[in-house]
Amino acid sequence: MLRITVCVSGGGTNLQAIIDQLQAGRLPGVEIAAVISNNRGAYALERAAAAGITGICCSPKDYASREAFNDALLQQLQETGCDLVVLAGFLVAIPPQVVAAYPGRIINIHPALIPSFCGKGYYGLKVHEGALARGVKVTGATVHFVDEGLDSGPIILQKAVEVRDGDTPEVLQRRVMEQAEWILLPEAIRLIAQNRVVIEGRTTRILPESGSGEGADAE
Ligand code: GAR
Repeated sequence: MLRITVCVSGGGTNLQAIIDQLQAGRLPGVEIAAVISNNRGAYALERAAAAGITGICCSPKDYASREAFNDALLQQLQETGCDLVVLAGFLVAIPPQVVAAYPGRIINIHPALIPSFCGKGYYGLKVHEGALARGVKVTGATVHFVDEGLDSGPIILQKAVEVRDGDTPEVLQRRVMEQAEWILLPEAIRLIAQNRVVIEGRTTRILPESGSGEGADAE
């Protein structure tokens, strides 16, 4: 069983996509250990509660220093007993001690085709504002492993989404979610649960499904 803890900050539509796939039986061997939010008012916590999942708030505001929050976040994660940390719209920089405790075991969804529109300052709607201001014709989403940098870890999956004339950041954000994010994040979790994602330096290799024919003994 792959136990995942999902970290959120806001609406939680990506969390909902994971819950929906789980409830539809499309994520065999996966269970959500807990949902952690840095924001007590996050609607994502209500989604967790509605699905009967433990919701935990771990906010920097409740700690005297950033370091104390970082330690608390690590402790909370460890208490959930998870194998994989899934950042689903978690707008907090992951502290080095958390990265060190979960090497190759933290994934993040980013609403652009990394390395475009990523890194410092690019989160949430700002990513789509940046894409529209630059005039790109194609954007998308990326699921990647988290390393010590910002949006710099090995890429697992990407999906392109068309930018249309007249798009606002909100309209583009919704299209990227519907056509890419809500598909890619559960898919990455499924691949990891099936042990099919191999990290090779800065890149990953996706192994074929066992019994798919590719790499399996032909009948
Ligand atoms: C999503 O678009 C996600 O990709 C983005 O925040 C949004 C959260 O929405 N994450 C980042 O920008 C991380 N750099 P949600 O709460 O509805 O899933």
